[in-house]
Amino acid sequence: MEYKNIGSIKLPALGLGTWEIGGRFEANYSRKQQEINLIKTAIELGFTHIDTSEVYGNGLTEEIVGEAISSFDRKKLFITSKLWHTHLNYEDAIHSLTKSLKRLKTDYLDLYFVHKPGTSMNLKQTMNAFEHLMEKKLIRNIGLSNFTKKQIEEAQRYLSKSKITALQNEYNLLSRDENALDICNKQNMVFIAYRPLMKGRLAKPGIRILDELAEKYSKTQAQIALNWVVSKPNIIAIPKASTKEHLAENLGAVGWEMERQDYEALDRIRQPFASSMKRFLKRYV
Ligand SMILES: NC(=O)c1ccc[n+]([C@@H]2O[C@H](COP(=O)([O-])OP(=O)(O)OC[C@H]3O[C@@H](n4cnc5c(N)ncnc54)[C@H](OP(=O)(O)O)[C@@H]3O)[C@@H](O)[C@H]2O)c1
Repeated sequence: MEYKNIGSIKLPALGLGTWEIGGRFEANYSRKQQEINLIKTAIELGFTHIDTSEVYGNGLTEEIVGEAISSFDRKKLFITSKLWHTHLNYEDAIHSLTKSLKRLKTDYLDLYFVHKPGTSMNLKQTMNAFEHLMEKKLIRNIGLSNFTKKQIEEAQRYLSKSKITALQNEYNLLSRDENALDICNKQNMVFIAYRPLMKGRLAKPGIRILDELAEKYSKTQAQIALNWVVSKPNIIAIPKASTKEHLAENLGAVGWEMERQDYEALDRIRQPFASSMKRFLKRYV
C-alpha cells in the first residue's frame, strides 16, 4: 500500500468504505460473519484505514468493523466514524461517540467526522464537544463531511485549540467537488474522496477514455479511476468493496503512475450536470 503524508497525518492512499456493509440505514445481519471476514481480509491486504458511520446499518456496521479489527494491533489501524446530522449538539455528540466506541470495541477514533450539516444543527456546541473529546483523547482528529467552504470556516472558528484536519466529500471522475479540494490544498487538510468509483459505475467498461487507458496501461477501469483520484496531492480515497477480488484489484490502483498527458485528459472530463447524469450514464456506462 502506498502512503501519503498530509498535514499532520500519514495515511494509506486507499482506505475501505463500509456503506451497505451490515445494511443501509437498517441493520442487516444476513451476511454478518462474511462481512467480518471480508474486513479482516482487507486489513491483511493493507487496507488499514476503515471508514464507517454511526448511521450505517443502524450501528451494525460499526459492530462488524469492531469485531473485525479486534484481532489486529489497534495502533496500526486508522479508524474513522461519523456523527449523524440529527445529533449535532453537545450532549448528543458525546453520547453518540461513546456508543460508537463501544460498538467498535476501541478506546479512541483516529478521526471523527460530522457526517453532514443538518438544518437544526448547533455547530458551535458540536465543535465544543469534539474539542472536549480531543482533550479526553477519545478522538485524535476532527473532520467534516459534505461541508461547504463557509461551513468549514464557521466550524473552525468554534475550535480554540484544535484544527479541522480532514474533509470527506464526493470526488470521482464524473462528480467532484473542486472547491472543497481547493480548501484542503490551501489549509493542508486531508481530502478523503468518497464514492471514488461512483458506486461502481466507473469500474466497468463503457467510458471511452477509461477503456483506452485501461488498455494502454494493462489495468482495469477501476484501477485507472482510483489512480487518477489519488494522484492528486492531499487526496486519499475510500472505495467500498465486498469481495476479495475487488479489494485486490483496487489495491492494484496505487504504486504506479500514468503519463502526465493522460492525467490531464482525465482532468478535462466534463462533469455532466446532475439533470443529465442519468442520460450520460445510460449512454456510456
Ligand atoms: N460522508 C458521506 O456522506 C459518504 C457518502 C457516501 C459514501 N461514503 C463513504 O465512502 C465509501 C465509498 O463510497 P460508495 O461505497 O458509496 O461508492 P464507491 O466506493 O464509489 O463504489 C462502491 C461500489 O463499487 C463496487 N466496486 C468496488 N471495487 C470494484 C472493482 N474493483 N470492480 C468492480 N466494482 C467494484 C462495489 O461493489 P462490491 O461491493 O460488489 O465490491 C460497490 O458496489 C462508502 O462506503 C462510505 O464509507 C461517505
